[in-house]
Amino acid sequence: MTQPAVSLTVYPDDCDAFGHLNQAAFLTLFERARWEALALGPGMDLFERAGVWPAVRRATIDYQAPAFPGQVLRFQQVVTRLGRTSFTMRQVARRATDDALLATLESVFVCIDRSGAAAPVPPEVTAYLAPAPAAVASDPPRRVTVHGIELAFDDRGTGPAILFLHGYPLDRTLWRHQLGAFEGWRMLAPDLRGLGRSDAPDLGYSMATYTDDLIALLDAVGVDDVVLCGLSMGGYVAFEFLRQHRPRVRGLVLVDTRAGADSAEGRKGRETAMADLRDGGSPLIAEQMLPRLLGSKAPDSLREEVRLMMASAPAAGVLGALAAMRDRADSSELLPTLAGLPTLVIVGAEDRLTPPRDAEAMAKAIPGARLALIADAGHLSPLEQPSAFNGQLRTFLDRLAGFLPAAG
Ligand code: MLT
Repeated sequence: MTQPAVSLTVYPDDCDAFGHLNQAAFLTLFERARWEALALGPGMDLFERAGVWPAVRRATIDYQAPAFPGQVLRFQQVVTRLGRTSFTMRQVARRATDDALLATLESVFVCIDRSGAAAPVPPEVTAYLAPAPAAVASDPPRRVTVHGIELAFDDRGTGPAILFLHGYPLDRTLWRHQLGAFEGWRMLAPDLRGLGRSDAPDLGYSMATYTDDLIALLDAVGVDDVVLCGLSMGGYVAFEFLRQHRPRVRGLVLVDTRAGADSAEGRKGRETAMADLRDGGSPLIAEQMLPRLLGSKAPDSLREEVRLMMASAPAAGVLGALAAMRDRADSSELLPTLAGLPTLVIVGAEDRLTPPRDAEAMAKAIPGARLALIADAGHLSPLEQPSAFNGQLRTFLDRLAGFLPAAG
């Protein structure tokens, strides 16, 4: 759930000798914004009433620009992960006059009781933090070590497996409305290396490495074959997976993605994005990507949530993903060879990055593939229109289930 935006004014005594909002005061404003949001919602005493206290276990702040006395800052916050005793909140502070990004904060809280012991997040707190807790990615995620790095992943349900692959520069929480939504299926959603909660080494990013990681993950959790469901860059990874491990794929769902490689202009664009990333970090990339990602009906709360997801992506992983996308192979020739593989192509009707005409051409090139258009969605259809998206995916999976052996 995205909680109400809160506006706070910077006072002179919050500032250092140079007149900037100082570091400690910035953290205090973030904290005050959290309490204000509670006051505007279920009441500041929500935690006290529930008999727990939200203790900060970890906080990571990224400063982007200074703030000065008299300025009004707008704080927005969203709970990104909800666990049994802990939750993670992302907050962003923007200048009210021009919406400039000033800082982001990611905090992990653990609920403690009066003795200081970790206690389950009480139901009334859960209701405030996330009205649909089943749809929220788990915290902490499962972790597995593959090729010397740790991958974070969600693992829900039992049955034949679906492997959900997120796009760039996003993470597995992109699939939070899908995880848990398909009874009779095991739903695996990893953070690709370098993104979300997975480790972000400086080097070693390519579609082949992402695929190797996924194979090692599947082996580690005892899954032989999967329905691959990849969004955008996740689709590029799915194509590489198919090139190398076709026998391990039982079905394919290509979401808001394309088969072609980057054009010369596209590759130049990746270089520019890499330079921007070095200058302004992931928050700058988030600012650039956001206007192109979502459809016209996306609520502000979702925009803010997606912005935060991208702004908090580790820079090394974003850089690596840019290089991997720049260097990826053209998969157009692969499409006609997928005859016999049940395939669904899904695209948001307002997707500007991988528009419906590309999806249509891709579906035509894969023998037997079906195309589903999601109304009122842009490039992130599973997040923007989860019920329409899940409806299409469910129909596809129901048909497929009839052809699959009982899963392990
Ligand atoms: C994505 O959503 O994964 C990216 O927009 C893909 C791309 O930039 O080619």
